[in-house]
Amino acid sequence: MMNRMRILAIETSCDETAIAMVEASGGIRAPRFKVLKNLVASQIPVHRPFGGVVPGLAKREHLKNLPILYRQILGKSQVAKRALNLKNDSRLAISAIRNVDLVAVTVGPGLEPALWTGITFAKELANELKVKGSKLKVAGTNHLEGHLYSFLLPQKNTSRVALPMSQTFPAIALLVSGGHTELLLMKSLTKWKKLGATRDDAAGEAFDKVARMLGLPYPGGPEIEKIAQKGNPAAINFPRPMLNQKNYDFSFSGLKTAVFYRLRDMKHATSDMEKTGIAASFQAAVIDVLVQKTIRAAQEFKAKSVILCGGVAMNRALRASLKLKIKSLKLNFLVPDFAYNTDNAAMIAAAAYINAMTKKKYKLEARGDLDI
Ligand code: KG4
Ligand code: ZN
Repeated sequence: MMNRMRILAIETSCDETAIAMVEASGGIRAPRFKVLKNLVASQIPVHRPFGGVVPGLAKREHLKNLPILYRQILGKSQVAKRALNLKNDSRLAISAIRNVDLVAVTVGPGLEPALWTGITFAKELANELKVKGSKLKVAGTNHLEGHLYSFLLPQKNTSRVALPMSQTFPAIALLVSGGHTELLLMKSLTKWKKLGATRDDAAGEAFDKVARMLGLPYPGGPEIEKIAQKGNPAAINFPRPMLNQKNYDFSFSGLKTAVFYRLRDMKHATSDMEKTGIAASFQAAVIDVLVQKTIRAAQEFKAKSVILCGGVAMNRALRASLKLKIKSLKLNFLVPDFAYNTDNAAMIAAAAYINAMTKKKYKLEARGDLDI
């Protein structure tokens, strides 16, 4: 198996259209990535008036954005410009991205109509980009594995190994996004066991719903974080759901309901001061549960490192709080660069590379409920 690969990756599982070009090498023992291009067309302004993602609109936007991003990937060279019209002269397209070894595309989990736009685009591309007569391979990729492996991606244009694998595993991975909250025990880069997951809302979903109650725009995570900086995290003692249960599951819907009752009982329009207190207290409750359960797992399973990933890993208060505990235990804290927390295609390329090395395959079919 070829160890060095240039991967063109496509991600359309939710409300970000993303294409990346990544150079990978080192195999699974010392994977190294160089992110040549990492383009994300955010649909946030399109969905914002609706307070959440509208699947039909997401599909339409992906269809519109994919060719635009692909054009940007090709760059501004004359060859690339002419190669745009792939159907008319695919030879030129080959010369423009002639070094691509693999096309990777997210097959799930996510919104199926949105996933299909990426899969269809990837297949067409691979067909057009025939190398010596044979079309390129398309690797179906799991979005959650993308998040999980995002810590391997380097900052900016550098190429570095995240950590020697011998110092990384066993690791505990906390994957927190808009759709998922999962705690994994990783024995190696490719072997893991799910320790727990949310029983209802995902962490990011709770942020989004509470933001909506506070009249903040979608997506709510960054908005809550912003106003929480001005509020007192001890203003309200919100519940810490399942904190004292011995399992590694989570539940956030009760916490969301607690915020709802708190607002209802105020019987007056919430002032900005009250809002910041609620946001800070809610955020503190979420962080408390996430951090304590993750640390407990790290200790129980004698982890050498803790990995934090997914959109909610953008949250600086969560990063700081987890980091503090991890450092006091002298463990490694592995968290992606800010560019790779929310949905992107570079992480899909990383997952596709690891899977190519171990020959792990996914069908080229949209699977909304694909698990990790
Ligand atoms: O990973 P992601 O981009 O998409 C999914 O796979 O779901 O995660 C998006 C989620 C949203 O719920 C968003 O509110 C949350 O990540 N998020 C944050 C922050 N930035 C994004 N949550 C808390 N604090 C943030 N700064
Ligand atoms: Zn995601």
